[in-house]
Amino acid sequence: MSYDVRALRAREFPWAEAGESVYLDHASTGPIPVRSQNAIASLGARRAEPFRLLPDDFFPVHAKARDACARLIGAKPSTIALMTNTSHGVNLAARSLPYGKGDVILSTHGEFPANVYPWMAAARRRGAEFRLLPLAGDWPDEAALMRAIETDPRVKVVSLSWVSFWSGHRFDIAAIGAACRARGILFFVDAIQGIGPLALDVVAANVDVLACGAQKWLLSPWGTGFSYVREELIAKLEPEEVGWWAQASSGDYAKFLEYDPKWSDDARRFEVITLDFVGFNAMSESIGLLLEVGTAGIESHVRALADRAMAFADDTPGVEFVTPRDPSRRAGILAFRTKDVAATSERLLAAKVAHSVRTGCIRLAPHLYNTADELDAALALL
Ligand SMILES: Cc1ncc(COP(=O)(O)O)c(C=O)c1O
Repeated sequence: MSYDVRALRAREFPWAEAGESVYLDHASTGPIPVRSQNAIASLGARRAEPFRLLPDDFFPVHAKARDACARLIGAKPSTIALMTNTSHGVNLAARSLPYGKGDVILSTHGEFPANVYPWMAAARRRGAEFRLLPLAGDWPDEAALMRAIETDPRVKVVSLSWVSFWSGHRFDIAAIGAACRARGILFFVDAIQGIGPLALDVVAANVDVLACGAQKWLLSPWGTGFSYVREELIAKLEPEEVGWWAQASSGDYAKFLEYDPKWSDDARRFEVITLDFVGFNAMSESIGLLLEVGTAGIESHVRALADRAMAFADDTPGVEFVTPRDPSRRAGILAFRTKDVAATSERLLAAKVAHSVRTGCIRLAPHLYNTADELDAALALL
């Protein structure tokens, strides 16, 4: 399960091994591994001089990318729609899922705005209520959420980020998914801050629709990402945004002018193309790296780093660990309050420790190639 972190760094992240940056900001923007940079360079060069493009540089690239995403979350490739970011997947759910006047879409405060505004807009249009439950301290009130799921018949959709972008709190999506499924409530998950440092079995978690940008923890170019739609649900959802590749006859150039509006049976019905072949080709390479290293190994590596950070905060007066202590309730995001967050951030920047400040906390977000030494160097500056 474990892997050689040093060899991985030397091969795929040489700038890290050379000490150019202590990069702990994967919750913002992931770096692009060498293999994916090479893929961008070679397909990018053919794209620049398009007479050099090969047949495999087009739609087979998308098929490979769907395949990679599917393997990552234990789904079938036919349930994956390639998307340029997370927001498209949130909009897909907010605009296509069945709910109407008087129904409740349930979420919680503290959500990233990408998973708030599309629901607000869709709820307003349909006369539904988009309800944000209050936080209990820094974390969502999961007991109140479960109570609402179990007792409020108006709740028709639950929409959550698997992992909070600022506190690093991780929902127990298996429990929530099971409770939703038992009551016929649809369950949407924004997984961008979870997949990568965590493995996910989307079918076991009873997720109906999932959205995930690949630009952070999936180490992929901007403008890449994907959505998953549960197999049985695909045929029931009518895409609001209509792409020319979304029809069953798409792909048969002889039928282009028949204008036969029958949706594709699979999740391609939600794709609006042309999508960037260069970017998605690189995304396949990056996800391929995660799968090659092994999601279980990455999860335990990141967990060990998080445990280390928690132990440091426990021993350090003036540093509060805001992320849940229970390892099953966190992922790769580690949030800290310090006496003076702005001054802490300046110290980290001066030492070339890439990090973020979110909601009054220092956010460190280590990934598969970060070392304990790197993390310790950052923690010492808190
Ligand atoms: C929970 C969450 N959702 C979505 C996003 C980004 O959305 P998009 O991929 O549409 O830019 C972020 C971070 O930027 C995030 O933390």
